[in-house]
Amino acid sequence: MNILLLGSGGREHTFAWKITQSKLCTQLFTAPGNPGTAQFGININVEVTDFEGIKNLVLEKNVEMVVVGPEVPLVEGIYDFFLEDDQLKNIPVIGPSKNGAQLEGSKAFSKAFMIRHNIPTAAYKEFTSENLEEGLSYIEKQNIPIVLKADGLAAGKGVLICQSIEEAKEEFREMLSGKFGDASSKVVIEEFMDGIEFSVFVLTDGKDYKILPSAKDYKRIGEGDSGLNTGGMGAVSPPPFVTDDMMKMVEEKIIQPTIAGFQKDKIVYIGFVYIGLMVLKNGEIKVVEYNCRMGDPETEAVLPRLGNDIVELFSKTVNGELSTVNIQEDQRAAVTIILSSGGYPGDFEKGKVINGIDEINDSIVFHAGTKTENGKLITNGGRVLAVTSLHENWKEAIRISNKNAEKISFEGKYFRRDIGFDL
Ligand code: AMP
Ligand code: GLY
Repeated sequence: MNILLLGSGGREHTFAWKITQSKLCTQLFTAPGNPGTAQFGININVEVTDFEGIKNLVLEKNVEMVVVGPEVPLVEGIYDFFLEDDQLKNIPVIGPSKNGAQLEGSKAFSKAFMIRHNIPTAAYKEFTSENLEEGLSYIEKQNIPIVLKADGLAAGKGVLICQSIEEAKEEFREMLSGKFGDASSKVVIEEFMDGIEFSVFVLTDGKDYKILPSAKDYKRIGEGDSGLNTGGMGAVSPPPFVTDDMMKMVEEKIIQPTIAGFQKDKIVYIGFVYIGLMVLKNGEIKVVEYNCRMGDPETEAVLPRLGNDIVELFSKTVNGELSTVNIQEDQRAAVTIILSSGGYPGDFEKGKVINGIDEINDSIVFHAGTKTENGKLITNGGRVLAVTSLHENWKEAIRISNKNAEKISFEGKYFRRDIGFDL
């Protein structure tokens, strides 16, 4: 079948790499794609939120399945757009309905969902400018640190961890007066959870589910988890501290109630659920966040460990046959290190020539923010490349990714040399 993949990052290069390993894939199209996805199919310059453009592309190229990488088209309702169109309604979209995507698109929605279905998460309250004063007095009664979250999508920047009540009150006012635009017209104030994070990824048809390899990502720009938040600077799969008992607890207390919640709330959900988790000091595990898609860079570490034919997995999900699938997990660890542009996540320059990828043969190099110009590969984003290595020993996988991250060169290249430092 012809498959259309939406997106243009390292996650999508990894999907393209994996999808085209399937005998069921005849031709892959990626919109808009990047030089990495172009190695596995045809890139088409249509933006992920241009639904009419996507419709034309699907009809013109006889696309029979659409795989959605990033959250924005999901939150904007691409699933529903297909369902409501007579020419598109029979073409499966891998990704939840607009309602389901609110698990990521609205923090208030996802918190209410968790409370309603008894899923462990931090205590919270939501406020708008209409009850600003109430919000301020709520803050005064909380312990520090205290967490403020913009309700809507804020490109990964909408979460603030405040170290004092004064700071929290100031940020709270700023958020409600548009610090993150519309996204912060509603603010969730949440109890701070102290612990270690990891993420699980679930593929579901809204009724049955399969758990994919888990991962831990490194969100901060600086070594030792310091400095600003980024989209993610590295990932380790599986996180070595996650035991079978922990996974059993996560499945019973979090994954099963989540899927049952979709049923009870009549949420149409065919796709990935990314569940960000916090393991507290007392051993409890709580949900930090849901995302309605796979993670980036987690995908670059998770999919190389997935033994299954991913197109077959998608087909079975769409056809209600997910329960017949056995997930095959490579026993080796995967470690991904992101190479970023100097200055990221602040201002950075693009257009720097990239060298050295061809010399690497013991890692997989996925493209994130790259572009080809006059036959040369150049940088085109904050996160430029993802270097993934597989090894029986996770420390060795780290060493190989580090070694190869060193070999690739472009002006201003930066990467964290301490991925896995806390494991
Ligand atoms: P989110 O967008 O909700 O995942 O938040 C981004 C990051 O902020 C998470 O990965 C955590 O590192 C941190 N974070 C969010 N909520 C909390 C919380 N309640 N307690 C501690 N850290 C949090
Ligand atoms: N790496 C975090 C995310 O994809 O949201």
